Amino acid sequence: MTSLAIKHNAINLSQGFPDFPVSPQLIKLVNSEMKKGNNQYAPMPGILSLRESISKKVEALHQSFYHPEKEITITAGGTQAIFTAIATIIRPNDEAIIFEPAYDCYAPTVKLFGGLVKSFEMQAPFYEIDWDIVKRLVTVNTKLIIINSPHNPSGQILNKEDIDQLIMITKNTDIAIISDEIYEHVIFDNEDHLSLSRYPVLKERTFVIASFGKLFHTTGWKVGYCLAPEYLMNEFRKIHQFQVFSVNTPIQIAFNEYINQSDSYQHLASFFQKKRDLFRSLLKQTRFTLLDCRGSYFQNVSFEKITDEKDLDFALRMVKDYKVAAVPNSSFYSRQSEGNTLRFCFAKKEETLEKAAGFLLKI
Ligand SMILES: Cc1ncc(COP(=O)(O)O)c(C=O)c1O
Repeated sequence: MTSLAIKHNAINLSQGFPDFPVSPQLIKLVNSEMKKGNNQYAPMPGILSLRESISKKVEALHQSFYHPEKEITITAGGTQAIFTAIATIIRPNDEAIIFEPAYDCYAPTVKLFGGLVKSFEMQAPFYEIDWDIVKRLVTVNTKLIIINSPHNPSGQILNKEDIDQLIMITKNTDIAIISDEIYEHVIFDNEDHLSLSRYPVLKERTFVIASFGKLFHTTGWKVGYCLAPEYLMNEFRKIHQFQVFSVNTPIQIAFNEYINQSDSYQHLASFFQKKRDLFRSLLKQTRFTLLDCRGSYFQNVSFEKITDEKDLDFALRMVKDYKVAAVPNSSFYSRQSEGNTLRFCFAKKEETLEKAAGFLLKI
């Protein structure tokens, strides 16, 4: 959709990246580290001071301690952390449970390592999980469950009841969990982000994945990290070492300085909530039906009142004729599906959202 948006000179609300600038102060910090000569390899698990800062941040937010030397690794973005965690766990014929619609790298990576994907399909408008059905997907071969909250693409979040179910399902098993918490700070209406790091019985089997791309609006810098108990992190690093060895040095040092400044990320929820509220109020004037958005920077809409076209066909027509690009949600399912919802990214400047809504009003 991004290349189509460029081709048709359309506003790109498809891919999940901000169109507003990165903090000039952060850019200055990276620049100054480069000028100081911090341009050579970082240690394999990442710059220690940054891992220490992450450990303090997680402890302050979730009252959960991860040892900076043994349980935290800096990665080349969240996607690499997810890839490495899957590679750590999945062997041929192992089964992984994923929840669809899903971020696109989960299933292909499981398959790459010979694993079998068992999907539970969440459905619009609420994308709830029926844990009784999930329970029935678990077999002796189940080695991994991948969850994602706040969730891309649905904008939903997991509740305490979901966490309790996850605890029950994994109890007395050797199932590992990947908890994709990339949007941990993009959560609205004073809801609490229930990181799996908070629950000792889950923490002991979980890789928590985070991304500085979403934290500091720097998706193009591709830096993230993984938290995991030592026995899992040891295995994770055996792969990470030969996959990327280490992540770029000046940015890690700059992130460490920046993350310790007050309000470097604390304002994120209200910052994005303003954008969500603006975008929702603009969309209310269109013929789209708004779905809930409790977290992440994605607003889902149903177009049932507009057309009975397939979502892909409608999205293609929209980018060409109405100059706005969105993602058809069927693309987040592995099975061919024919839903009538689209995903818009609202991590954009106010004027971008206003201009896009102006075009969408014409539909
Ligand atoms: C749910 C989810 N997980 C992981 C990622 C990847 O993060 P990164 O850009 O740091 O690789 C994204 C990026 O959009 C995402 O939406």
